[in-house]
Amino acid sequence: MKALLDKQQFGPWALVTGASSGIGPEFARQIAAAGINLVLVARREALLKEVGRHITRDFGVQFRALTMDLSQEGFIPKLAEHTKDLDIGLVVSNAGTANPGEFLKLDRQLLEETLRLNTMSHLDIAHYFGRKLAERRRGGLILVGAMGAENGIPCIANDGGAKAYVHSLGEALHYEFKPLGVYVTVLAAGFTNTPVLEKFGFDPKTMPMKPMSVEQCVSEGLNGLLENRSRIVPGRLNRIMNALVPASLARKMEADMLDKGLASKSAVASARGEA
Ligand SMILES: NC(=O)c1ccc[n+]([C@@H]2O[C@H](COP(=O)([O-])OP(=O)(O)OC[C@H]3O[C@@H](n4cnc5c(N)ncnc54)[C@H](OP(=O)(O)O)[C@@H]3O)[C@@H](O)[C@H]2O)c1
Repeated sequence: MKALLDKQQFGPWALVTGASSGIGPEFARQIAAAGINLVLVARREALLKEVGRHITRDFGVQFRALTMDLSQEGFIPKLAEHTKDLDIGLVVSNAGTANPGEFLKLDRQLLEETLRLNTMSHLDIAHYFGRKLAERRRGGLILVGAMGAENGIPCIANDGGAKAYVHSLGEALHYEFKPLGVYVTVLAAGFTNTPVLEKFGFDPKTMPMKPMSVEQCVSEGLNGLLENRSRIVPGRLNRIMNALVPASLARKMEADMLDKGLASKSAVASARGEA
């Protein structure tokens, strides 16, 4: 069921990071459907503008596209400058990525950049916009995490660790911000059908568990925010697995899936003469 966001509480503007691809544009669409204007943030300007044009056409809302690299230190002053005239009532800190592979074979610099994106960008955004939301005494913050992160996820060890930080940060802020009138929800997404799956070598059509649609993932996340839940794992099957499968078994299942995906990705790359 689509969430019905209250414009008074969560508008007149919302900000979504990672709004150029995957889960982010769907957040923008479902928020725009409530008549809330959008600040769209990511690195690829053309895609952000395309998302913006679509939501303006379909829902009559305004948009502002801000291109910035959230893995780099010091992005907040630019973000603050470009949003200081807007009354932002909802912030979705969604930008993130994964660099799958055997830990020891991954580039140390890449690991650090991804760790910054997957942790520090959430910290900076939650701290800057958290203060603003607290001043208004109403609004919402969604932090996008990943199901099972606390278990440790082999082959995305660094990225899983970062998401465990996001979960802990978000759940603590949920508690701290509640008396300030600000709702905070962690969206602990399971496998969702977005371009990031390609990085894992997964084909959504042949995955053992069908990945969730972005529509369902986002609508469950927004409904969780409306109920001011501290954490949402979208999808009934995901929730059952998350609750019942022991961490050691979950790690093994994920490791097996990722091993297969990465092996098939590398086979395709060798066949193309890329590797
Ligand atoms: N899909 C899944 O199965 C899944 C599962 C669990 C959690 N998640 C989480 O869901 C969130 C969205 O991922 P997705 O699946 O929608 O992947 P996606 O399609 O690859 O989208 C990632 C978004 O993050 C932005 N981004 C990446 N690096 C950035 C940077 N350095 N600075 C600014 N923006 C950056 C990308 O935009 P630009 O490239 O234009 O910058 C893009 O808009 C991520 O936090 C991811 O970890 C996804």
